[in-house]
Amino acid sequence: MGLFDDMLKGGESLIRNEEALDFEFLPKVLPFREKEQRFIAECVKPLFASRNGRNLVMYGPPGIGKTAAAKHVIRELEEQTDEIYPVYINCWQHNTSYKVIVEICEHLGYRLVQNKKTVDLYKIVASMINKKSAVLIFDEIDKAEEYDFLYFILESIYKKSIVLITNFKEWIATLDSRIKSRLTPDVLEFRQYNEHETREIMRQRAGYAFPEGVWEDAAFNKVAKKTFEIKDIRTGLFLMRESALIAEESSRKKITLSDVEKAISKLENFSIKNSAELSEDSRFILSIVKEHSGKKMGELYEAYQKKGGKQTYKTFQRKIAELDKGNFISTKKQTGTGGNTTIVEKKLTDF
Ligand SMILES: Nc1ncnc2c1ncn2[C@@H]1O[C@H](COP(=O)(O)OP(=O)(O)O)[C@@H](O)[C@H]1O
Ligand SMILES: [Mg+2]
Repeated sequence: MGLFDDMLKGGESLIRNEEALDFEFLPKVLPFREKEQRFIAECVKPLFASRNGRNLVMYGPPGIGKTAAAKHVIRELEEQTDEIYPVYINCWQHNTSYKVIVEICEHLGYRLVQNKKTVDLYKIVASMINKKSAVLIFDEIDKAEEYDFLYFILESIYKKSIVLITNFKEWIATLDSRIKSRLTPDVLEFRQYNEHETREIMRQRAGYAFPEGVWEDAAFNKVAKKTFEIKDIRTGLFLMRESALIAEESSRKKITLSDVEKAISKLENFSIKNSAELSEDSRFILSIVKEHSGKKMGELYEAYQKKGGKQTYKTFQRKIAELDKGNFISTKKQTGTGGNTTIVEKKLTDF
């Protein structure tokens, strides 16, 4: 063996298909979620017979295939029929009724949204969908700031299935009774994957992303085990990518256990931008920032105290810094007459 045979050459990468490590990547098959996909399909089924569909709330902790399962059903639906509009909307990105309805227009291929009010767009959407039917999936529904759009859909669209996805089961109880009584959803719980399932999912993904033989057994086993411990496939994918990048940095052609261990030590600084992962206190602070976006640190702290926040200013500042680092919010320094101030802003669109 030559001295440099096991070294990567400049520009060479260990990752064959970077896209496959993306959280958004949708594998062709979704093992261990067959039952859930069937459940969703059952709710949608009446639409095929031109009847009204059933509504569904899906819940479960982050990183366990809720979004993926819903998108899979959408994909199959698209292959089966043109008579049912598939609409998928992430309510973190589209968190007001206006943004949601504009996004629905986009899905329907209606482009003349400019200068139109929400109510006008409601009418346009209803008249379009009511010629056919629709499956409307609202992911991260708990991140929406208002729910008028749900009311509109329930009242004005005749044949539909509404699918709501949330990390919090408790969210259902907080829904306005006006909406709840019309929605009368089925409820589907997503349970966490067991160790075997986690391992198989990670193996499948590694198969998409890496050429054969790149992972040393011990390294892959560690990733699988850690992913199972964390109970979040998304974080597992982060680990996979980081481990590969660490190996690449040393121009090695194999990913070793020590690469994975280094990647694991990075996890502490890694946020998967999922507020369900935050402590209650940080979530509380996040809600204050959302409400008072663009304010100065000191003003925010006042608002925090007024709402019953008990931490010291110093701790508050540290929590803001953490939220910033995790990309939940953004901060910028501003120099004024009184010295430096920090402006804190919410961040919703780039999720
Ligand atoms: N059963 C599965 N098979 C293959 N990949 C999966 C499975 N479950 C989750 N994943 C992958 O894990 C990641 C997180 O899943 P996602 O559906 O986004 O989680 P959730 O919506 O529950 O937070 C995605 O990249 C997804 O493709
Ligand atoms: Mg999701």
